[in-house]
Amino acid sequence: MAIREIIKYPNPILEKEMRIVEQFDSKLKQILEDMYDTMVAYDGIGLAAPQIGLDAQIAIVDIDDQHGTIEFINPKIIAQSGSQIDIEGCLSFPNLYGDVRRATYVKIQAQNRLGKPFILEARGLLARVCLHEIDHLHGILFTSKVVKYYQPEELKDGKH
Ligand code: CO
Repeated sequence: MAIREIIKYPNPILEKEMRIVEQFDSKLKQILEDMYDTMVAYDGIGLAAPQIGLDAQIAIVDIDDQHGTIEFINPKIIAQSGSQIDIEGCLSFPNLYGDVRRATYVKIQAQNRLGKPFILEARGLLARVCLHEIDHLHGILFTSKVVKYYQPEELKDGKH
């Protein structure tokens, strides 16, 4: 178990395109385990590799026990529809929350830790978190999409 340091904004790695993963080896497995440990330690519901300083298209999402932990390697959005506005936060922006518009439905193609392709369809909060994390892999931060920031006294949960 290893909890990594979370890279906070501003840091150049948070705003660049991540490299495609080509090696599905024990090092990747270790990165995924560290990302999970780090996400849990910081009470997040998603984490992207650049947030622990790694230039790689790797993201994990875990919104609840029902959906479990989803690992995305080299994810691509192949369809999305609908529109929803809801609160978001980000472990790279402590104590900052704002409303962001996202699709209500998303279809994602990615690879698992063994390199096997899979397709995930997600709706609602799961779609939102997946889209937030995939944005991280392309250097896109939620602050570029916030339509309204919350004041500290208005806060509820929503960190990822
Ligand atoms: Co984030």
